[in-house]
Amino acid sequence: MAKMPSPSVTVKYTKLFINGEFVDSVSGRTFETFDPRTGDSITSVAEATKEDVDVAVKAARNAFDHGPWPRISGYERGRIMNKYADLVEQHLEELAVLETLDSGKPLAGCQYYEIPEGIKGLRYYAGWADKIHGLTLKMSGPYQGYTLQEPIGVVGQIIPWNAPLLMFFNKISPALACGCTIVIKSAEQTPLTAFYAAQLAKEAGIPPGVLNVLSGFGEIAGAAMSKHMDIDKISFTGSTEVGRLIMEASAKSNLKPVTLELGGKSPLVIMDDADVEEAIKIAHMAVYANMGQVCCAGSRVFVQEGIYDEFVKKAVERAKKQMIGDPFLPGVEHGPQIDKAQFDKILEYIEFGKKEKATLLTGGQIWGDRGFYIEPTIFCDVKDTMKIAQEEIFGPVMSILKFKSIEEVIERGNKTMYGLAAGILTKNIDVANRFSRALRVGVIWINCFLVIDKDCPFGGFKMSGIGRESCIQGLQSYLQVKSVICPLQESPWL
Ligand code: NAI
Ligand code: MG
Repeated sequence: MAKMPSPSVTVKYTKLFINGEFVDSVSGRTFETFDPRTGDSITSVAEATKEDVDVAVKAARNAFDHGPWPRISGYERGRIMNKYADLVEQHLEELAVLETLDSGKPLAGCQYYEIPEGIKGLRYYAGWADKIHGLTLKMSGPYQGYTLQEPIGVVGQIIPWNAPLLMFFNKISPALACGCTIVIKSAEQTPLTAFYAAQLAKEAGIPPGVLNVLSGFGEIAGAAMSKHMDIDKISFTGSTEVGRLIMEASAKSNLKPVTLELGGKSPLVIMDDADVEEAIKIAHMAVYANMGQVCCAGSRVFVQEGIYDEFVKKAVERAKKQMIGDPFLPGVEHGPQIDKAQFDKILEYIEFGKKEKATLLTGGQIWGDRGFYIEPTIFCDVKDTMKIAQEEIFGPVMSILKFKSIEEVIERGNKTMYGLAAGILTKNIDVANRFSRALRVGVIWINCFLVIDKDCPFGGFKMSGIGRESCIQGLQSYLQVKSVICPLQESPWL
């Protein structure tokens, strides 16, 4: 294994950010965050428990009920958000290094994609902040009616570790634009960049209590948020299993609405007429981007029989060339998985694949002698009923399935509990259109994959979730509509 470069980064912020200040947890408890390259501890951070959630919610409630954020003009909120975006941009290099250290993601991906995308999200929703308005209603009697679009209130946001800072900005940006106040909990695997971002929010002029950032465990701090009586909405990204727990907690507490962005098992369909070289590139990226830790990964690759053999051969050649190594080294495409639990889970799925008699063509092995690296893996002869074709692996495992006709692949593509995304590679627009209408998923990619944009609603059908993020839909989930009706006494009724 190549010598591990030591990034020159000092971790500056490790405490909970509540009411505009970094504070220790009420219990004084801390936990360690680990470097996925080695499994060694990077540092310890404050651990939020129920008591800290209570303190943070109180601060957010006070900021919502009495503070300036929901009351200032949308223009002013947008201006502060743009300033925040500028500050994140100025600290991008340090944030990227911190993100790679905490998550194991290749550094270039943080520098050139994820953090810039997060910044874009802030600016995108800053632009919406002064364009939120209601309707004038056409009443059927002598009344004047209109709607107000009001911020939903105190929102709880729970994010995962697979794109820590990007998820952070994806969640907070629309909520800030609407005038909500926020308690956000980072994933226990990756608390560092969210704290840094909290400091920058303060410098940008986001008032105390508007953005409260907690680190802590899901079953403790996350669960306390989900059942909190004074949180008005929860937005969650993570596993389907936890999504269900969050909905249950809402049902048993104050019936807060929930937005859930959950797992997937997205099909990527490659038709005989597709350009095979291009298909290899797209399929490779669709499965191995971020070491497979992507909710909308194209983890079921359906290849039509006419090009199946050629595709399989070339996919294996490409996977073998994948540059694995320390994510700080230039040129490295593939770093470690996030932690031991995910590493073990993926290796277990690889064993299931072998047991169920899929053919393992490449990979399937641990890479290096420490940390959580797994080689890019390919199975062919995969059948729809196998575990590796049904369940989310969240790792670098491509399952290749053969099919004959578009009718058949539409039917098979829809046959999982998930419905997040799907892709099709073909030169035939009629086939692409037919596929797009027939798949029960939230996003369809034609001749591309994993293209995600702030102006493009994102979310799942079926058990991939509830609600949409990005675009105006992402904004609406942080608003409440209020109808206002008033008699028209002396004015003409038009
Ligand atoms: P998870 O769903 O347990 O964790 C995601 C977030 O939820 C974290 O912030 C965690 O602290 C929080 N959480 C956990 N339990 C909670 C609870 N009872 N109440 C409230 N919040 C809770 O995901 P985990 O365990 O990290 O990964 C398990 C699997 O989930 C992965 O293998 C993958 O299949 C899927 N996953 C999907 C993601 C996506 O982007 N859709 C992201 C992360 C994981
Ligand atoms: Mg979990």
